[in-house]
Amino acid sequence: MDNSKQDVDVFKWAHEHRDEIAWMSQNTNHIAPSNIINDAIEEGIKKKIYQWYPYSKGLFGLNELILDDLHLKEQRSLLTSGGTEALYITIRALLGSGDEVIASDPSYFIIHKFIRLSGAIPVEIPIYKDPWKIPVDEINERITSKTKMILLIDPLNPLGTGYSKEEVKAIAEIARDKKLYVLNDITYRDFSDEHHLAASYYPEGTITIYSVSKNCGLAGMRIGSLVSTPELMNTIAKYNTNDLSVNIIGQIATYKALQTKSQWFPEVKKITRTNQLKIKNMLENFEDIFLPVYPSQANMFIIDVSKTKLDTEAIQGKLLFEHKVFVRAGNYVSAKYGKNFIRVSFSVPEEHAERFINAFPNVINDLKNM
Ligand SMILES: Cc1ncc(COP(=O)(O)O)c(C=O)c1O
Repeated sequence: MDNSKQDVDVFKWAHEHRDEIAWMSQNTNHIAPSNIINDAIEEGIKKKIYQWYPYSKGLFGLNELILDDLHLKEQRSLLTSGGTEALYITIRALLGSGDEVIASDPSYFIIHKFIRLSGAIPVEIPIYKDPWKIPVDEINERITSKTKMILLIDPLNPLGTGYSKEEVKAIAEIARDKKLYVLNDITYRDFSDEHHLAASYYPEGTITIYSVSKNCGLAGMRIGSLVSTPELMNTIAKYNTNDLSVNIIGQIATYKALQTKSQWFPEVKKITRTNQLKIKNMLENFEDIFLPVYPSQANMFIIDVSKTKLDTEAIQGKLLFEHKVFVRAGNYVSAKYGKNFIRVSFSVPEEHAERFINAFPNVINDLKNM
C-alpha cells in the first residue's frame, strides 16, 4: 500500500469514492429493489409530507407491519432511529450501575459501549472457537447475583453464526428461571435458514431489536424498532427520545419495503448465498486462510487470516485503495481476536462480489511478498 494512505480515514475515503466502491464492509444491502421504494418516497416528497411532524406513534400501520413480520401481534413496537437507538433506549431503561450482561467477544461492540455507558458491565464470553457462538452451558456458569440481561445477537455479527431452536429455547428458559432480560438483536434474521425468536418462548422478559437497514436495504433511512410486551414497553418507552417520532421519509420507505418484502427478499437471499459460496470457493485455494462459519446465517462472515501473519488493516487498506473493494478489518468487532480476521459482507451485486474474489488473492500475495 502507498505509505501516504496509512493515516487516511477509510470511511471518509470510501464515502468520497462511494460510486466506485464495492461496499462489503458494513453488511448493508445493495441488491434490494430500489424502484418500488423510490416510488413510495417520491410520492411522499410530492405531498411535502416532510413539512409535518409525523404522528408521534408513527405512520399508520407501520408498527403493525413490523409485528406481523415477527409474528408477535400481541406485542408492542416502538419506532426508533435504527436498531441502534432501539438498543440504546432499551439499555438506558433497563440497566444500571453494577449490573452485568452476558455477552460475547466477538460481538457488535456498540451495544457493549451502551451497556458501559449505563454503568453496567458486559461479561464477554470468548467465542472465537467452535461453535463460534455462546454455548448455553457457559451462560449458566457466568450468571452471578448481578446478572440482569443476556445479549443474544442472532444471527451474530460478525461471525454469521445462528442459534438453533433448542438453544434459543434453553437461553429463554435460563432467563426466565433467573429473572433476566433477553436483549434479542435479530437484525440479520431474514438471511438465515431458520430463525427462532426468544420472544416466542419468553415474551415477558424479551426485548426484540428490529432493523430494516440490512434486510430491506434501508441503512441510510435509519429506521428500526424495539418490540416487547405492553408491560415492558411501559418501562422502556419512558426513555424514548423520539417524542416527535422518527424520519417520515424513512417510515414511508420502510412501510413499502415491508409490505412487499415477501415478493423480493427470496431473490436478495439467493444472490447473497451465491456470493457467499463463490467467495468460499475462492478461499479454498489458500491453505493458510479459513472460514470459521459457513454457511453464514447472515449477510456477512469472517475470513480468518491469522496463519498468514498479515496485518488485517493492511489487507483492508490494499483492497480499498488499490481495488476499491471495501471490507472491514476485524478489530472493530473483537477486542481480543480482531487481528485474526477480516469481515466481508455479500449482499452486493454479483459483479461486486466478483471484484472481491479477483482482488483478494492478489492482495494476499502482494502482502506476502512485501
Ligand atoms: C447486530 C447489529 N445490531 C444493530 C445494528 C444497527 O442497525 P441499524 O442500522 O438499524 O441501527 C447492526 C449494524 O450493523 C448490527 O450488526
